[in-house]
Amino acid sequence: MGKKTIHDFYNMVETGEKIVYLTAYDYLTAKMEEKAGVDMILVGDSLGMVSLGYDTTFPVTMDDMVRHCQAVRRGAPNTFIVGDMPYMSYQISDEQAVANAGRLVKEALVDAVKLEGAGPQVTSRIKAITEAGILVMGHIGLTPQFMGQLGGYKAQGRSAKAALSLVKQAKLVEEAGAFSILVEGVPAAVGKAITERANFPVLGIGAGSYTHGQLLIYADMVGMYDNFTPKFVKKYSNVGEVLTNAFADYVKDVRNSQFPDDTQHTYGMKEEERAEFLALLEKEEK
Ligand code: KIV
Repeated sequence: MGKKTIHDFYNMVETGEKIVYLTAYDYLTAKMEEKAGVDMILVGDSLGMVSLGYDTTFPVTMDDMVRHCQAVRRGAPNTFIVGDMPYMSYQISDEQAVANAGRLVKEALVDAVKLEGAGPQVTSRIKAITEAGILVMGHIGLTPQFMGQLGGYKAQGRSAKAALSLVKQAKLVEEAGAFSILVEGVPAAVGKAITERANFPVLGIGAGSYTHGQLLIYADMVGMYDNFTPKFVKKYSNVGEVLTNAFADYVKDVRNSQFPDDTQHTYGMKEEERAEFLALLEKEEK
């Protein structure tokens, strides 16, 4: 199966087939996700927390994003990849936004970029990037780059007025030219209202079951990232525990000289070479 295009995503919306979207930040994970049949991969700026150990997404740079998008592209050559625009890579001007979106396409071969917000500046950036020929995914709701203004990492659109405002924001993003939108951390009723009114694919993360597709942060759903788990995450595995146990077994084996095993994990040598080697060594050291 070749790489999906926006036409496939629009067809999936038409036929009601759900779009499966998952984050990845490195080659190995991307390879496994492609093998598993994920439709779309997001190299999110959640990279900052998941792979780089920061507390927020703010310190993530364009160079970080380019490097990780490149690794994900190598791991998933046949999957549609969305590269996130990190904090301060698009806020300053349309020119800055187009140049940085262009870097993700040119240097890391992503298929689309994603940026947060729906205010007049952001819709201007969406328009400018789209006019440069690059696909843009919008992102509204719980937008981590607006953490200060949102007053923390909490669900959005829970009051009637805030819910209505999100429906309007989704329309603004659509009208600005985005090919799709991600809606994060909102009540299911808001996810549904946005999806019913949209003319483009609506992906949800913590936005209920009605959206055209679902996104999760892979490290949450496999049980690797345990600093904080949002309510909307379903855990499909406990890879963190599996890995920690494997590391602990290795620590024990090395300390007890149980690893490596001389018959299983060690390179051998022909007997005559070994005998000659010992003889040479003895001569050398006389
Ligand atoms: O960076 C990211 O992974 C994201 C998701 C949290 C939606 O933008």
